[in-house]
Amino acid sequence: MAEPALAGGRAGLGEGALVRARNLSKIYRLGGGEVHALRGVDLDIQPGEMVALMGASGVGKSTLLHVLGALDRPTSGEVFFQGERLFQGSDADLARFRNRSLGFVFQFHHLLPEFSALENVMMPGLLGGMPRPEMEGRARELIEKVGLGNRSKHRPAELSGGEQQRVALARALVNGPALVLADEPTGNLDSTTAEAIFGLLRDFNRASRQTFLVATHNGSLAERMDRVVVMVDGQVAAER
Ligand SMILES: Nc1ncnc2c1ncn2[C@@H]1O[C@H](COP(=O)(O)OP(=O)(O)OP(=O)(O)O)[C@@H](O)[C@H]1O
Ligand SMILES: [Mg+2]
Repeated sequence: MAEPALAGGRAGLGEGALVRARNLSKIYRLGGGEVHALRGVDLDIQPGEMVALMGASGVGKSTLLHVLGALDRPTSGEVFFQGERLFQGSDADLARFRNRSLGFVFQFHHLLPEFSALENVMMPGLLGGMPRPEMEGRARELIEKVGLGNRSKHRPAELSGGEQQRVALARALVNGPALVLADEPTGNLDSTTAEAIFGLLRDFNRASRQTFLVATHNGSLAERMDRVVVMVDGQVAAER
């Protein structure tokens, strides 16, 4: 899509971009060995963009989502979110930031098995301290939007895989996050259901100008996003 709105803004200050990653590296150390999962990633994501993150298995897509999502700290490099340095604060600060500003959708949706679909969707809001009635209203609205108004009392085990994924999507959106990070959100779904989930993501992206970064192996869905970022061996190799 378009060039960054504020291209040429002073490097490192993160102006304009919603997310700006600079020279990110991530080294996993285990048992004397090292895995260089990220090797100097630079990436800007503009507000309202929907960006596909592609690349072969093991190139670092999930690692990058975890770091941009403040679930994991980089070994070196910087992430700016709305111009603010992300990793300055404590882990508790990062947890608050995640709850307030980010939504996550994973391939395996990590719904809480003991709770109903509605309660699962409400959970991030309750954790963030939103009053229960308000949260319930918002959660019901989202459950309707993802087409599960008649499944809100079902527990995850009483829902199909695609329905569980839609619950996970509603949960990711319940706090109105500025950025939604999705890791193969359609990876384990048939093509019709994958299409439906993608359509929902796109609708939310367009309707509320929410920004999405979506790791996917599905080239045809990726081509329909605003921009495709391709990773090779821990680096951003190409953008189109
Ligand atoms: N917690 C971890 N500890 C050690 N190594 C890890 C860890 N997580 C990932 N890796 C390694 O880092 C590299 C990047 O992994 P990552 O999960 O980011 O790849 P990916 O691009 O998401 O792959 P896929 O398409 O298969 O999901 C891989 O070589 C992987 O084995
Ligand atoms: Mg992955």
